Amino acid sequence: MRRPIIAGNWKMYKTVSEALDLINGLKQELKGETAVDIVVCPPFTALSKVAEAAKGSNIAWGAQDVYWQEEGAFTGEVAPKMLTDLGCSFCIVGHSERRTYFNETNSTVNNKVKALLKHGIVPIMCVGERLEERDSGKTFNVVSDHVEGGLKDLSGEEISKIVIAYEPVWAIGTGRNATPQQAQEVHKFIRDLLKKAYGGDVSAGVRIQYGGSVKSDNIRAIISGEDIDGALVGGASLKVKDFAEIVRQSKK
Ligand code: PGA
Repeated sequence: MRRPIIAGNWKMYKTVSEALDLINGLKQELKGETAVDIVVCPPFTALSKVAEAAKGSNIAWGAQDVYWQEEGAFTGEVAPKMLTDLGCSFCIVGHSERRTYFNETNSTVNNKVKALLKHGIVPIMCVGERLEERDSGKTFNVVSDHVEGGLKDLSGEEISKIVIAYEPVWAIGTGRNATPQQAQEVHKFIRDLLKKAYGGDVSAGVRIQYGGSVKSDNIRAIISGEDIDGALVGGASLKVKDFAEIVRQSKK
């Protein structure tokens, strides 16, 4: 049985004091929720304060990006060991906004996934097609490129540690989410890809989240898909009540 995992991607929102209000509210609201793994991903500037506030609670936290080098002259970047230093457990990589605005490629995603695994941080690797790719029948090609490129040269043991987030780009922040059938179809496709490459035991254990306009009123239908193990939530993760309700609705 895969344990559902709901992660909130706070993107470039929340000052430190706003982030503290949010994490403290979530702690209160989600006290005693143990059936679902709960993760929040604040911006870098709020990580250490959120980490302190979340300590000892049922809420884990992650970063939204990382650089793959150990250290060095890479102005503006953050190394994996700077994240582990704060107690980081998760890190989003390959989000479509990073692929679109910051030239993230399958190869940089792959470097980041490897660096995170080396440092014991769970990568949440995002994959997904753009609208024109879906409309031209390329969804499965794009998704398999993202999955195979991002996971290149990893062992089955390493694969079993990661989380994949299927996020159709046309559903992110648009209010237009994939139907539960469309989501399940791609999730199954991803699991089949993993099965072919790493075998049934590995593929059966990997958690695959759906992302794109997930809200408290659509999560039940989405998570009912057999291969859907949770959600990566953007907009609705910025409000205590909305995110808490998504977590509560996510029990399998
Ligand atoms: P959204 O964002 O829930 O606001 O669509 C999801 C994401 O980008 O991870």
